[in-house]
Parts: sequence; structure tokens; C-alpha cells
Amino acid sequence: MSVFDNVLGLIGQTPVVKINHLDTGPCELFIKLESQNPGGSIKDRIGLKMIEDAEASGHISPGSTLVEGTAGNTGLGLALVAAQKGYRLILVIPDKMSREKISNLKAMGAEVVLTRSDVAKGHPEYYQDLAKRLASEIDGAFFINQFSNPSNPQAHEEVTGPEIWEQMEKNLDAIVLGVGSSGTVTGLSRYFAREAPGLELVLADPEGSILAEYINKGTLATKSGSWLVEGIGEDFLPTISDFTRVSKAYCISDRESFRMGRELLVREGVLGGSSTGTLLAAALRYCREQQEPKRVLTFACDTGNRYLSKMYNDFWMRDQGFLDVENYGDLRDLIARPYQSHDTVVIGPDEPLANAYKRMKIYDVSQLPVISEDRLVGILDESDLLLAVAEDSDRFDDPVRSAMATNLTEIGVNADISELMPIFNSDFVAIVKDGEQFLGLITRVDLLNYLRRKTDR
Ligand SMILES: Cc1ncc(COP(=O)(O)O)c(C=O)c1O
Repeated sequence: MSVFDNVLGLIGQTPVVKINHLDTGPCELFIKLESQNPGGSIKDRIGLKMIEDAEASGHISPGSTLVEGTAGNTGLGLALVAAQKGYRLILVIPDKMSREKISNLKAMGAEVVLTRSDVAKGHPEYYQDLAKRLASEIDGAFFINQFSNPSNPQAHEEVTGPEIWEQMEKNLDAIVLGVGSSGTVTGLSRYFAREAPGLELVLADPEGSILAEYINKGTLATKSGSWLVEGIGEDFLPTISDFTRVSKAYCISDRESFRMGRELLVREGVLGGSSTGTLLAAALRYCREQQEPKRVLTFACDTGNRYLSKMYNDFWMRDQGFLDVENYGDLRDLIARPYQSHDTVVIGPDEPLANAYKRMKIYDVSQLPVISEDRLVGILDESDLLLAVAEDSDRFDDPVRSAMATNLTEIGVNADISELMPIFNSDFVAIVKDGEQFLGLITRVDLLNYLRRKTDR
């Protein structure tokens, strides 16, 4: 193995792995692990190219400020390159993006400006419009603008395309890919139009994006929906986009994307991001529809490490209604962490209050049922804890029983949902019981999640 001069030398030359345990019909399906780039995604490639081209054209030099509106991965690619080359980087990010990505960006030295993700192009708070405005307001700042920057597709035309063709030994029939800025699709289209004009390009698009309908029917919707998969799907056609060689598009729901991504990890051992599930779902549909054997390639565009608190978290998946859970038709349907499946975070009455504090922080809960010999004996919430230690912090060593509440607001599992509101209005959580058996807690957020699941918004 080679020794590299710096981390930028690790960008590209990503491995391809064959899919072995999923039904690919008559086809062979391969997945290119862009997740193995040093910044964790395909966007490292364009981060490097866009900065080096801006340097070459004299627009920037070390010390300059770079500004970009990005859903995260482009930001990480840019942050990687900017840190190595000595640039200040400001990133405008829609607030639906995962916490891991944002922490990662800040840790790499980027300045992050969060903005609304529920507004469309043309709105002053839309992430790209806001980034453009910030760049114009900062003296000498350079707006990277991946959506219209020709270096974006060029990176894929000059590097990703040839790399794939060589890796697949010039034997490949189709590529299934997603579109965000459209750099990948435009660059690969140009390269394969010259090298392998018969190679088919197929789009994987999240439900809510306008692109699948544009490819399949030629119509351009003026309104888009919303989706949770990150990095792909659009509500407009980027300036650099060229879809002329995309023959077909599959529209994939969030539910299918996340479940497919999780299946890829279990069955093939590949930890991909949320869009990996979208691409894989579309690729499998394409493969199964073929009448003759074909060699098909798709991508894991980013690493799943970025989504551990979302698609790889059962509670999050359940809150979104993406996991099949038994529907009881009673209050059990609102309990996010059932006690009987050992999912409720609990504490014992003789444990020190310091343990309660740590457990609340780790699991991000603000109350703990106190359980002794499988029976609920009390509840400890943040205000009980604060009241206990506010005057005397030595009390962190005292047992939980010294601070817990014992006047419990219990509710029977068959009670009506409307009975929850008076409990919440008195600032309690609902303790759900079936006879003597403790089933779990219902908090305000649990009720909100339940109501939102029912309205499907
Ligand atoms: C997470 C992620 N980012 C980026 C891309 C590629 O997008 P672009 O069109 O910007 O090249 C994809 C494509 O699948 C993706 O999944």
C-alpha cells in the first residue's frame, strides 16, 4: 500500500463491492463505496476540484473566505480541502440535516449557519439564496455554488467516470444514481456518451422530488413535496444539469429507502447513508425488471456513520412510523420505549442521584421511572433532581429514593387519549399500567409523534 503525502491524496479510487445476498433478478449488481473517501462521501471529489479550479483561475488564494449552501456532504468535502489549504469556510445548512453532520463540520473548522428547510428557492432563507447573499456581503468572499459550478460535473467526467470504467473492466450495462446538484449525473453522462454510449443511466429519486416525473413524463412540477433522505432529490433543475441520457427514473419513499439501507448493512455489511437505501431500492427494481443478464452499478454516496441517530436508530424509525410495530389500539401505541421489551430507561431507588443524571443525559430523557423488583415505586424527573442538588451538590451521592416523586399519575392502558392532556397540563408524564403491570411512559413528545404519524405529514 502507498504512503500518501496528505489526506487529499486519499480522495477517489473508491472500492466496488458485489451484492451477494439480495435478489438482483438476472443481473449482477455492484456498489461503489464513495463512503470510503476521507470526508466520508462522494462530495470530497468536487470539494477538491472546485477549490483547485478557483485557485487556478485566480479567484481565491489561501486566506480567502469560501461560502457554500450545502446539505452537508459538500460542506465536509470543502471543509477537508479548505483546512488543508488554509481557507476560511462558511456553510449554510438546512435545519433538517443530521446532528452528526453538523458536529462533524464544526469539528473540521467550518462556520455553520443553520437555516429553514421548509422554504423553496427564491425565499431569502432558502439555503442557497442565503449563502449567495452572505458571500456578496463578505469582502472578497467566493461563492462556491456547486449547483452552477462547472468544476462539479467536470470532477466526475474527468475522474469518477474513467475510474468506474476501468474498475468494471469496460463491462458495465447500467448505472443507477441519485441527483442532488446533478454534478454526478452530468459528468458521468458526458464521459459515457463518448466511451460507452450504450450504457444506461437510471435515476433513483426520493418521493417528493420533482426529478423522477421530469425524466419519466417530461413534465416539470412547480411544487415539490418534502422527504427525509439526505443529499438527493430536487425542487428545481440545477443550471449544470443534463438529463438527456437518463432513460428512466424510480421514485422511492423514505420508508423504503431507510429500510433498504438497513437491510444493506445486515445482509451485505455495508454501512451506507440514507440515500444509499434509495439508490439500492431503485437498482434492485431495475435489476429485477430486466429480461437478460446485465451488469449494474450503484453507489453508497456517503457513510452511514452520519445517520446513527436517525435511520439506524430504532426509536427514531419507530417515531417516523417506518418500522412495522404491532398496533394495539390502546395507549401502548403511544409508548415509545416499552418497559416489557427492556427499552424503558429506568433507575433503581438505591442508585446515587449522579447515576440518574448521567442516564438522563446519555439517553436524552428528562425523567426516569424508578423500578424496584420489577415494580414501579416512583419517578424522578429533572426538576426533582435539581431541587435535590441545587442547595447541596454533595447530594449527587444520595440515593434516588431520597428525591423521587411517589404520588404517581397513573393511567390505565385502555383510557382514552384525551385523558393524557390533563396529566401533561399538570406538568406530569403519563405512567401507563395494565393492572399492576407497568408498561411505560407517555410524554408530550410521544403524543406529538403519535398525532403526526396519524396525519402522515
Ligand atoms: C448523499 C449524496 N450526496 C450527493 C449525491 C450526488 O449528487 P450530485 O447530484 O450533487 O452529484 C448523491 C447521489 O446519490 C448522494 O446520495
